[in-house]
Amino acid sequence: MSFDAEAHRRASLQGWEEAASGWVRRQELLRELGAPVSHWMVQEISPQPGQRVLELAAGLGETGMLAAELVAPMGGVIISDQAEAMLEGARARALQLGLSNIEFQVLGAEWIDLPLASVDAALCRWGYMLMADPAAALAETRRVLRPGGRLALAVWDRVELNPWALLPAQELAERGIAQGEDAPGGAPPGPFALGHAERVAELLAGAGFAEVHVEALDLDRRHESFQELWDSTLDLSRRFHDAVLSRPQSEVHEIMASLAERFAPYTSAQGTLVVPGRTLVASASA
Ligand SMILES: C[S@@+](CC[C@H](N)C(=O)[O-])C[C@H]1O[C@@H](n2cnc3c(N)ncnc32)[C@H](O)[C@@H]1O
Repeated sequence: MSFDAEAHRRASLQGWEEAASGWVRRQELLRELGAPVSHWMVQEISPQPGQRVLELAAGLGETGMLAAELVAPMGGVIISDQAEAMLEGARARALQLGLSNIEFQVLGAEWIDLPLASVDAALCRWGYMLMADPAAALAETRRVLRPGGRLALAVWDRVELNPWALLPAQELAERGIAQGEDAPGGAPPGPFALGHAERVAELLAGAGFAEVHVEALDLDRRHESFQELWDSTLDLSRRFHDAVLSRPQSEVHEIMASLAERFAPYTSAQGTLVVPGRTLVASASA
């Protein structure tokens, strides 16, 4: 079946609007998991006081808020996402941190509603691989960057290197209830659609970026218990949530018990779960 880009865009927007409340509930987990990635990205764009930084597909805006502190007081950050509900979560976080040099904008990354060469740097953590046309989004990113402006991004590496996602996907696939992008090796776009360093480098070069650098970062996802991992997965993956909760209650219990066994090998000496993962991070100059 051919890929319907417009249908994907509509479903993605609706899915992320609905997922926002779960992401707000899990923001501490995300903050801990994503901190090394955000720090890497912010270091690569090296924000200077007075600069204007754009964060795309920002979700709750964790990465952009790190940059906001560095460009203050005269500079600022535009925290943007397609989903208004995500930006509401980001606004609440900025208020909590007392950050006042942030603008929040609903923006689609494939058609960025900003003028040519209007920002000094851009950030996009775990966004481009979800888009119908990542090449268009990268070309748009380069258009809004000033010449020489820096981009830093992150995309998940292959699903096989991310058991936190692989095991739930395998469980659903074996039951015949996995769908599209969450299936191991599933078709793009999806969380693992850009999980090859060469592909990321090729896309960046194809969009006209120079000084392209891609590397991998290992990240551990830590959970107090399997129950916490289960609840977090339901909160953070809309596809898992919808697929699982569409099943009868008895099957939901079976899925849960079976997944608990699949994750058991990741139990630490303290009884918590430490599940490995790997992300690719990349930087380039416009
Ligand atoms: C996996 S979340 C990542 C959020 C955040 N960057 C982070 O790292 O925590 C993906 C985000 O990308 C946004 N997104 C997906 N496609 C988009 C598009 N074409 N334009 C703008 N935002 C998009 C979603 O709404 C969602 O908030």
